[in-house]
This record gives sequence, structure tokens and C-alpha cells, in this order.
Amino acid sequence: MTLNFAKSRVQMAFHVALSKLNFGMTNYRHPDRAEALTSVARARSLAYTATTPLECVELRNAVRAVSKVPGEMAEVGVYLGGTAALILDAMPEKHLHLFDTFSGLPDGGDYLQQGEYAGSKESVERTLSAYKDRVRFHPGLFPSETGHEVEDLRFSFVHLDMDLYEGTLGALRFFWPKMNPGGILLCHDYPQIGGIVRAIHEFFAGEPESSLPLSGQQCLAVKLRRE
Ligand SMILES: C[S@@+](CC[C@H](N)C(=O)[O-])C[C@H]1O[C@@H](n2cnc3c(N)ncnc32)[C@H](O)[C@@H]1O
Repeated sequence: MTLNFAKSRVQMAFHVALSKLNFGMTNYRHPDRAEALTSVARARSLAYTATTPLECVELRNAVRAVSKVPGEMAEVGVYLGGTAALILDAMPEKHLHLFDTFSGLPDGGDYLQQGEYAGSKESVERTLSAYKDRVRFHPGLFPSETGHEVEDLRFSFVHLDMDLYEGTLGALRFFWPKMNPGGILLCHDYPQIGGIVRAIHEFFAGEPESSLPLSGQQCLAVKLRRE
């Protein structure tokens, strides 16, 4: 048995042991993956985010995967701007539309309270100042108060991180018809928050596309056709 073979057997035993505890592990030693972690760390240093480093890498990969797809980008659920910084860093050309009440969650739901995650628009503007030419703010309740501001746009990437059933379902109904073929929608807190699972399943039950769970608390869907 070679040393490399012995090492891979030990690693596999470790993975299997972790899986028995309902955990998984991945490594970032390949230079491409290590580079992804470095960029994620850079963006995460700008603002706190409840999105883990591994989930941030998934988010970054999804953003980069739409580089050839025309259309703008959007995030609903900005809080302090942590994941917005990551999206802007991952995609240097496109505009990013940011939707948030900037006064926190509009309702309670699952284990969350109304008003949680209240960030201020001014502090997010400061955090994202290096990207200011590519950022558009849409403060208010989405989609009812701010959806009309982007009614005529087409999108290549949408990140949903709203934590609530109603808003997420509303955002799916709003953005999905506006996404170009090849565009990606990524949703956080799947399957951790029951309301998000309900919104995703309810929405995609009526669409030809399906959602794909990722290894963190996220799922994504790729738009197949133009509406
Ligand atoms: C978990 S935080 C977002 C975290 C952020 N993506 C990050 O990782 O840095 C959820 C955000 O969604 C916003 N939000 C939830 N429902 C909303 C709605 N219907 N319209 C606008 N903002 C909403 C809240 O104000 C809050 O800032």
C-alpha cells in the first residue's frame, strides 16, 4: 500500500465517521478552491454575515457561473451587506440591486422575531462604497413596495435571504419570470427554515425547473427558458 493510498483510506474513514454523526466535511487545498476561500474571507471582513464560509463559496461559485448570461443581479435580504459584498466581489461587471426594509424582518416566522436583522442603509452604503457605481438600493418591503422599481429589468442572478415564507414566495413569483435562460437563483436557509422549504417547494411545483439543495443551508435553481 502506498503512502498516498493509506492517507486516502484514513481520510475516507474520517468522512464516514463524520457522516454517521450527520456531519460532512470538505477541504479547500486545491489552489482554485483555496483562492475561493481567500476571496470569501476578503468580502466577509467587510461586514458580518450569517452565511458560513462554505455557503459563501457556493454563493461565489453560483455568481461566477452566470458570467455569460446577460442580465442584472439582485439580492433580497441585505442586512449589513456581507453577502452583497461577496456577490459584487465575485462579479466585477454587473449591477446589483439590493432590496431590504433596512428595519429588519417585517414579520415573525419559524424561530424568528419581527425586527430581527435590522441594518441601516447608510451603513451598508459605507460597507459597499468601493462598489458604489454598480449598486442600486431599493429600501422598503419587497415586492409590494419596491418591486415596481425593477419591473422592466431582466436578471441573471438572484440571491434570496429573507428568512420568511411569504416574502420568499413573493420574491420567487416576482423574479423567476424575469430571469434569462442560464440565470441562477440561490436561496439561503434551505432546509433550515421550514417557511423557506415551503415557499421553494410550493413555487417550483408549478414550474418546469427544479431546485437543487446544496451542501450548506442553501438551494439553487437554474432558469431554462425565456418567458
Ligand atoms: C438574514 S438577513 C439577510 C442577511 C444577509 N444576506 C447576509 O448574509 O449578510 C434577512 C434580511 O431580510 C430582510 N427582509 C425580510 N423580508 C423582507 C421583505 N419582504 N422585504 C424587504 N426586506 C426583507 C430583513 O430586513 C433582513 O435584513
